[in-house]
Amino acid sequence: MPSTTITLNSVAHHDSLTIAPATGLAVRGLIRIPGDKSISHRSLMLGAIAAGETTIEGLLLGEDPRSTAACFRAMGAQISELNSEQVIVQGIGLGQLQEPGDVLDCGNSGTTIRLMLGLLASQPRRFFCVTGDASLRSRPMKRVIQPLQQMGAEIWCRSGGYAPIAVQGQTLRPIHFQSPIASAQVKSCVLLAGLLTEGATTVTEPALSRDHSERMLQAFGAEVRVDPEACSATVIGPAQLTGQRVVVPGDISSAAFWLVAGAIVPDSELLIENVGVNPTRTGILEVLAAMGADIQMEKQRIVAGEPVADLRVRSSPLQACTIGGDLIPRLIDEIPILAVAATCAQGTTIIRDAAELRVKESDRLAVMASQLNRMGAQVTEQPDGLEITGGTPLSGTEVDSHTDHRIAMSLTIAALIAKGSTTIHRAEAAAISYPDFIPTLRQVCL
Ligand code: S3P
Repeated sequence: MPSTTITLNSVAHHDSLTIAPATGLAVRGLIRIPGDKSISHRSLMLGAIAAGETTIEGLLLGEDPRSTAACFRAMGAQISELNSEQVIVQGIGLGQLQEPGDVLDCGNSGTTIRLMLGLLASQPRRFFCVTGDASLRSRPMKRVIQPLQQMGAEIWCRSGGYAPIAVQGQTLRPIHFQSPIASAQVKSCVLLAGLLTEGATTVTEPALSRDHSERMLQAFGAEVRVDPEACSATVIGPAQLTGQRVVVPGDISSAAFWLVAGAIVPDSELLIENVGVNPTRTGILEVLAAMGADIQMEKQRIVAGEPVADLRVRSSPLQACTIGGDLIPRLIDEIPILAVAATCAQGTTIIRDAAELRVKESDRLAVMASQLNRMGAQVTEQPDGLEITGGTPLSGTEVDSHTDHRIAMSLTIAALIAKGSTTIHRAEAAAISYPDFIPTLRQVCL
């Protein structure tokens, strides 16, 4: 039987990945996924502003955490060479970030720019300029600039609220910010600004977003009060942060590609080890279970304050489902790969209340609809979501990641169930959050 071919071609800084699945392809084996992106960013940032030494095990070595590390090095933190064994951060102490001699480049990373702005705005007498790549410079920043300005921050940006952004650090005043969107980046930005601000800084959101900042701030010694029922979190400033040992669990958003691959590629079984299963992130598991996926959680445990488990997935028939409301922030990054799962499910899957996807690394609603439809899927784009009628077989063709890491990997998984060969252009984007995605793909495709 001919085997599946996976070919990578590099031309002028771009990779195209061609996948020709063999008849009878299955995905099988044991997978260790990379460290959680959100927790990796936060461990570098809190390590940099805490007093003393922080050690980080399992850090994600993707391009986004590298952007965070480079920014904080430029402001005086000593961060050892990044590797997943152990990274050592010598913190410079809260309020001690140095004025960098150049613009801080956040690359493709929304988490770096938005969280960091909260810290920069609250460093009195220092001036900062922040920017990023073309995608980041087209993403909305008013959502963090406005609450920071309410706290008294001095911030300038391009018209429309885009980076590059200039900040003149100030002593800020505490606020209770009612965020119009459920966004962990907005919440974390305001809480980080609250660290140096005297009094109680509170953020209330319309639905609960991921709570990694609250957990890690508490672990580093800040006084943080959370009210998950009310979707609110408070930090009491000025805080005292002390360096810690952080163990970063595997990223459930990266595991999601294998959960869906294992579910939709016939005759498959994957065991994905060491996956972070913080309840603010596990919407994907609930939705896949509701669709009829066979996923088991094994060896549940708590590692350095975060719940972790191994996940076993076996292929099974899927049914359509409806996804919306408060569930959306709990699976916001998994919607592209859920759209791929929906192409195999019986019936019409409806995804709504997900307009936030239009302002991610790409317009993920438009890009997933157009690229899956090129492969023969039946996807209708709605202003705030997608409608996907499953059961139409996919056919190999040429598709494009639009330089979005999650799109690149979602289309790669779609290629595994397509008839014929699929070429994913600009597939190098995967390295933003999953540098070993292609080697792992080669390992599990039998
Ligand atoms: C993140 C929060 C989410 C998510 C992003 C990482 C974080 O964004 O999409 O990939 O680490 O706080 P929003 O907070 O904008 O929803």
